Amino acid sequence: MADVRNIYRFLDRIAPFRTQEDFDNAGFLVGRGDREVNRILVALDITGEVAGEAARWGAELIVAVGGGSVMDCCKAISMAAAYDGDIWNDFWARPGVVDFQPLPLGVIVTVAGTGSEMNGGAVITNEAQKVKTGRDYPAANARFALMDPTYTYSVPKFQLASGGFDILSHIMETYFSPCDAENVSDDISEALMRGVIRDLRTSLANPEDYDARSNLMWESTMAENRIIKLGKKGDFQCHQMEHQLGAYTDCNHGAGLAVLHPAYYRHIYKDGLAKFKRFAVRVWGIDPTGKSDEEVAAAGVEALADFIKEIGLPTTLRELGVDESIDLGIIAASCNVAPGSYGKMCHAEIAAIFSECR
Ligand SMILES: [Fe+2]
Repeated sequence: MADVRNIYRFLDRIAPFRTQEDFDNAGFLVGRGDREVNRILVALDITGEVAGEAARWGAELIVAVGGGSVMDCCKAISMAAAYDGDIWNDFWARPGVVDFQPLPLGVIVTVAGTGSEMNGGAVITNEAQKVKTGRDYPAANARFALMDPTYTYSVPKFQLASGGFDILSHIMETYFSPCDAENVSDDISEALMRGVIRDLRTSLANPEDYDARSNLMWESTMAENRIIKLGKKGDFQCHQMEHQLGAYTDCNHGAGLAVLHPAYYRHIYKDGLAKFKRFAVRVWGIDPTGKSDEEVAAAGVEALADFIKEIGLPTTLRELGVDESIDLGIIAASCNVAPGSYGKMCHAEIAAIFSECR
């Protein structure tokens, strides 16, 4: 957790506290650690309460200090504080139109992962309805993002690995989709994926490696600031599956993705053979000599699975904490089916993937 006193000093510089009351009120949002704000995230009614509170004492700025959950939650709060209607129904249950100005938001990033610092996206869970859904509203973009790699030094290794894998997942979910001709977006994605793998290994071995930490921060931003999405259809089927797994089990996002990705790619790689072969050779350095295209492509997926094991993330649902008492069929049936990249899913196939991850 970043030193809150430094954050207060920064805020005092950009928007001086006029009174002791201002200072105390600032603490209402600024002084919260990740856990408290995460609790707000999973209970939208409380989010509404915070938003109402922010509006009541005339907050002029919300500062999110934390990782993706905190940033996304604060985006929802910044919208709710300036909106009279039902924030969930009007903007997350379905896409809405933000024709008002949300309360200004600034973010101070303490975990590299979602890239939420440079877009209007926010993933919000409605616990009562068991729906976890993401929307992207440019009006919710943060006005500023402070990214000091030293703030991430103390992130626990599991969270470091899970945030790092989320970055890799965002890039893969974009890369494994048309267009498939040689293009700049995919070239950048390959460099970013190699970088995430390198910098995650270095950060896990030496949490205070400044270069690796700063690279990870920038890789997380670059994965989701829309640059690598130019000209790409995008997939995000694995995110759709993980979101519902998370909505039902409250599992960690990056760890859930780590369990699902290899199984999902084993299902679709034959339909995107050339791209998966390119991934194997250019990202994992697999030598294609003497191997069929299918063997090379499959080796890339297994290299990904080996990396997940290497960085200490779960490889099965049981390791993720999702035991036999959970009805995977219900979760699979609740998943959105993405338009598809190389193999369009159906709910039966999603259920099969979940079963294979047991
Ligand atoms: Fe993600």
